[in-house]
Amino acid sequence: MSASYGSASARLMPGSEQIKVEMRNKYKKPTTLHCGAGSGYSLSVAACSVIALFLLLQLYSHLPQKDALSLEPRLPTSNHFRELEEVEEENIQMPPPRKRSPRAVKRKPKRPTTFIDEFLDETSQLRRIFFPDMKTAIDPNKGNDSFYYYPGRIWLDTDGNPIQAHGGGILFDEKSRTYYWYGEYKDGPTYHAHKKAAARVDIIGVGCYSSKDLWTWKNEGIVLAAEENDEIHDLHKANVLERPKVLYNEKTRKYVMWMHIDNVNYTKAHVGVAISDSPAGPFKYLYSKSPHGFDSRDMTIFKDDDGVAYLIYSSIDNSELHVGPLTEDYIDVKNVVRPILIGQHREAPALFKHQGTYYMITSGCSGWAPNAAMAHASESIMGPWETMGNPCIGGNKIFRETTFFSQSTFVLPLPGLPGYFIFMADRWNPADLRDSRYVWLPLMVGGPVDRPLDYDFGFPLWSRVSIYWHKKWRLPYRWNE
Ligand SMILES: *[C@@H]1O[C@H](CO)[C@@H](O)[C@H](O)[C@H]1NC(C)=O
Ligand SMILES: *[C@@H]1O[C@H](CO)[C@@H](O)[C@H](O)[C@H]1NC(C)=O
Repeated sequence: MSASYGSASARLMPGSEQIKVEMRNKYKKPTTLHCGAGSGYSLSVAACSVIALFLLLQLYSHLPQKDALSLEPRLPTSNHFRELEEVEEENIQMPPPRKRSPRAVKRKPKRPTTFIDEFLDETSQLRRIFFPDMKTAIDPNKGNDSFYYYPGRIWLDTDGNPIQAHGGGILFDEKSRTYYWYGEYKDGPTYHAHKKAAARVDIIGVGCYSSKDLWTWKNEGIVLAAEENDEIHDLHKANVLERPKVLYNEKTRKYVMWMHIDNVNYTKAHVGVAISDSPAGPFKYLYSKSPHGFDSRDMTIFKDDDGVAYLIYSSIDNSELHVGPLTEDYIDVKNVVRPILIGQHREAPALFKHQGTYYMITSGCSGWAPNAAMAHASESIMGPWETMGNPCIGGNKIFRETTFFSQSTFVLPLPGLPGYFIFMADRWNPADLRDSRYVWLPLMVGGPVDRPLDYDFGFPLWSRVSIYWHKKWRLPYRWNE
């Protein structure tokens, strides 16, 4: 297994070697046009040669621009990133079957038989592996271990409290050169609203944390609060507010928040919008709606280089995603929408862009239980999108098939480090949702994809998206200077 991944990471090589690799790669492409394969006529061979030559020229004209970045003198950080691409193994074993009390048998007749069962079982002997206790918390006030991320550990803010920003996203505020992390503030009791309902925490609001280094987070408070009394308000505590994301609108100079708004049974399926003059709020709630007249559950927003922003949401009972541009002020959708990944049942979308190509990570739909992530790519944000396979590398098979026991929520670009991103995910704890953890890992774009594509669109060959498992990792020293 490490051998096959080895070849993928070997593609991320400095300078000219990378071009050779890419050439070889792309040069393979004409065979998919069925040139030569069984064609006995010299005419068609000649025609194919012309096509091949044309494609080669096309390819050549794209190369300099595409690889310009990798020909630049390598950043001093590149060694650091090569380390992050090393495969880190995990070796967790299923515990031996336990003697179970009659009460436990009655409550849950089946004994846990898979890692996912163990993960979801509060009494599992593996609990500490998935949810390490407070003793191992990441604490910015303890300087000796600074800047290391430990996916899955409790992460404290500068006041010493566990960060509450689940299903979140990060805004880099250019004006203050500060990162703002927004997410669901879930520090309340977990309960089931009725017998068949999923575990939930009442809406408390949207938590906001600020940081200059992406590691030391200061609590900025609840920037959009639940409504305690007005029962018909979208933000009434008995409803659902998930996956808040914030963009800055240059024209109106407003910070605009979009979120999933729902009722306790998830039958409302709206998106909600709020605005603020400051990144640290307070946000003013505007309204919710069915975007384009469709149901909308997991969602995200994405601002393109040209300032146009988009809403991407799971729709038609999560069977497909929809993508459409926002209005210029970002507080509504335009009347334009495209269905994408039709019939693929994906949620938790996280979008990013690299060298003109759009990428997206999604999860499957299995409630609070983790499942395998998929990476997707497209030339245009409006599609068509292609599915490229599971981006997760390292850990072990079960880690990769469960997105390291977590679910995507956001992909953060690192300014000055093109091609390198932070993959942000939630390790949900349905027994106690406030104790859900954050899984942040390095994500890189490069090398060929490792699974056949859904369709053959010819050019271009997408690059592989890779998320590398690490128990402990950090960004390069002074990466943000
Ligand atoms: C960091 O400091 C704590 C106590 O201050 C200590 O227990 C721990 O071993 C130290 N860790 C390292 C890596 O030095
Ligand atoms: C949610 O579903 C339960 C059970 O089906 C039902 O009793 C309840 O009225 C529903 N609540 C809402 C707000 O739809």
